[in-house]
Amino acid sequence: MASFLHSRFLELLLLLSFTPFLSANIQHTFPQCLSTIQIPNSFFTPTSPNFTLILNSTAQNLRCITPSTPKPLAIFTPFNQTHIQTAVICAKKLGIHLRFRSGGHDYEGISYTSAINLPFIVIDLSKLRAINVHLDDNSVWVEAGATVGELYYRVAEKSKTHGIAAGLCTSLGVGGHITGGAYGSMMRKYGLGVDNALDAKIINANGEILDRKSMGEDVFWAISGGGGGSYGVIVSWKLKLVPVPATVTVFNVPRTLEQGATKILLKWQQVAPKFDDDLFIRVFIQPSNLNGTTKRTISTTYNALFLGGVDRLMEMMTQSFPELGLQKTDCFEMGWLESVMFIAGFPETVPTTFLLTGKPAFLNHFKAKSDFVKTPIPETGLKGMWKRLLKEEMPLMIWNPYGGMMGRIQESSTPFPHRNGVLFKVQYVNSWMVAEKKAVKKHYKWIRKLYRYMGQYVSKNPREAYVNYRDLDLGMNDKNGENTSFVKASSWGRRYFKDNFIKLVKIKSEFDPDNFFRHEQSIPILPWK
Ligand SMILES: Cc1cc2nc3c(=O)[nH]c(=O)nc-3n(C[C@H](O)[C@H](O)[C@H](O)COP(=O)(O)OP(=O)(O)OC[C@H]3O[C@@H](n4cnc5c(N)ncnc54)[C@H](O)[C@@H]3O)c2cc1C
Ligand SMILES: *[C@@H]1O[C@H](CO)[C@@H](O)[C@H](O)[C@H]1NC(C)=O
Ligand SMILES: *[C@@H]1O[C@H](CO)[C@@H](O)[C@H](O)[C@H]1NC(C)=O
Ligand SMILES: *[C@@H]1O[C@H](CO)[C@@H](O)[C@H](O)[C@H]1NC(C)=O
Ligand SMILES: *[C@@H]1O[C@H](CO)[C@@H](O)[C@H](O)[C@H]1NC(C)=O
Ligand SMILES: *[C@@H]1O[C@H](CO)[C@@H](O)[C@H](O)[C@H]1NC(C)=O
Repeated sequence: MASFLHSRFLELLLLLSFTPFLSANIQHTFPQCLSTIQIPNSFFTPTSPNFTLILNSTAQNLRCITPSTPKPLAIFTPFNQTHIQTAVICAKKLGIHLRFRSGGHDYEGISYTSAINLPFIVIDLSKLRAINVHLDDNSVWVEAGATVGELYYRVAEKSKTHGIAAGLCTSLGVGGHITGGAYGSMMRKYGLGVDNALDAKIINANGEILDRKSMGEDVFWAISGGGGGSYGVIVSWKLKLVPVPATVTVFNVPRTLEQGATKILLKWQQVAPKFDDDLFIRVFIQPSNLNGTTKRTISTTYNALFLGGVDRLMEMMTQSFPELGLQKTDCFEMGWLESVMFIAGFPETVPTTFLLTGKPAFLNHFKAKSDFVKTPIPETGLKGMWKRLLKEEMPLMIWNPYGGMMGRIQESSTPFPHRNGVLFKVQYVNSWMVAEKKAVKKHYKWIRKLYRYMGQYVSKNPREAYVNYRDLDLGMNDKNGENTSFVKASSWGRRYFKDNFIKLVKIKSEFDPDNFFRHEQSIPILPWK
């Protein structure tokens, strides 16, 4: 085993010796430093047979693993927290840049590729996925590499009347997801994942492991919404279990333009943020073929979770949203875990045990962006959207209602500031199958143009965006005169965090003054010191 490790380190050494800006010192100390970690099958260089398999394993955006995207010098898969600590200490000592990956769902792939910090090594936390549910105090400790699907499964296994308030997509990694906010179908009832975070374990740039008490309330605040990769390596989160009824109700109701989609969506904007907290109805908007023909239309699909039975739901819908024309036969009563599968879009034939595989439902190449809407978008605005959507191959918009608990939490209580006054969040996704260069350029151009068009209808000063929907376009075109990384960061920083940004910067400057944890959009340190 030692000789296996040794040969891997020699391979790495060879690679490093070709990168002139790493000092000769590294060549002696690096293998020596890491060799204190005696674990087999944990270190992969590009010449290892399984390197690409492991790199690809959780890369959710195929756009970020094309042949031209920068690849890591090596991937290290620690088995426990001591291994992560050692990797951090070695990397810091030797000046090696690290990226951290939990579930690999970063929209710009910055957990496994890097446009700015070369060379780099990926620390992949997929082997750390323990989940310990404690019904006695309504909490769960979950390690960074576990997916939210596994987490939901393990909670439901212990109790049918407890759940977790976090993301809808079941393959999200706990490590990157929670720290960026983490919204899901219970956000109107219980807020975000970070609103239900009780404690965390984090490894700082000195390789020390800290919990909420030892990191202090400021750092705990910062990692509870400030986004991944800025403060340290999150090893695990302690989250609150929230009550869910034994029976919940779901539905999925499509309406095309021909079926009055425009009028229905106008009404949804008025009512969805004001519904009872138990009701969450999001909308998928995309082009589709008109029934049985090749004529294209717009399809709007109302995808909902109600924390209660169908009779109470029908009463509420008849009273406040009759325009949708929801029928009792559209609705399905089930347990909360089954509703997780339904909302995530799995066919009924897929059993809940699929969640334990941690695998995603689909993969594609995509570019995405986000907006927050504070006044309803008028009919003319919607019509302009339809026109643009009909021109593209596989575009998708997802509208996510706010209100309820989201509006009752202070903007400064976590770094996530999009709270009171937000009616809904808009997500734009443009996907494609074939990565032909010219086509990719066109898909980028299309989504940027739609985003420019939507500017008139969404939040302003700043035009807000969700940090977990990382968008490297933000801050690219700001002509601010000054050109320090701090000024550039302020541009996306204010969009993601509003006034919380400056507090994030102050905490970062104290907690990681050497900026060890950094990436394209990590929280910067203060320019003056
Ligand atoms: C298909 C899809 C569906 C989504 N659905 C939702 C949703 O329903 N709700 C929602 O809120 N968001 C959703 N997101 C966004 C998602 O929350 C973010 O992409 C999130 O950052 C993913 O976390 P991850 O661990 O899977 O990703 P990773 O790519 O592993 O990490 C994301 C970021 O966090 C950093 N990071 C990773 N692990 C750690 C760690 N242990 N400690 C510190 N930093 C770390 C990485 O460096 C990177 O910057 C979705 C994304 C996708 C692709
Ligand atoms: C590499 O992949 C093969 C086949 O996929 C597997 O049997 C083997 O255990 C893997 N090795 C490591 C080190 O993960
Ligand atoms: C990894 O993904 C790339 C891009 O999708 C693909 O070309 C390659 O065949 C994959 N390799 C493995 C081993 O899965
Ligand atoms: C992690 O594993 C190593 C062996 O590789 C062991 O020495 C160490 O004590 C373990 N740490 C923890 C926290 O379990
Ligand atoms: C599509 O056609 C099916 C039968 O072919 C019909 O039941 C359904 O109502 C039609 N839907 C629309 C939107 O016209
Ligand atoms: C601003 O910074 C970028 C790199 O961050 C650099 O490419 C560009 O030339 C700079 N512009 C000016 C005007 O200094």
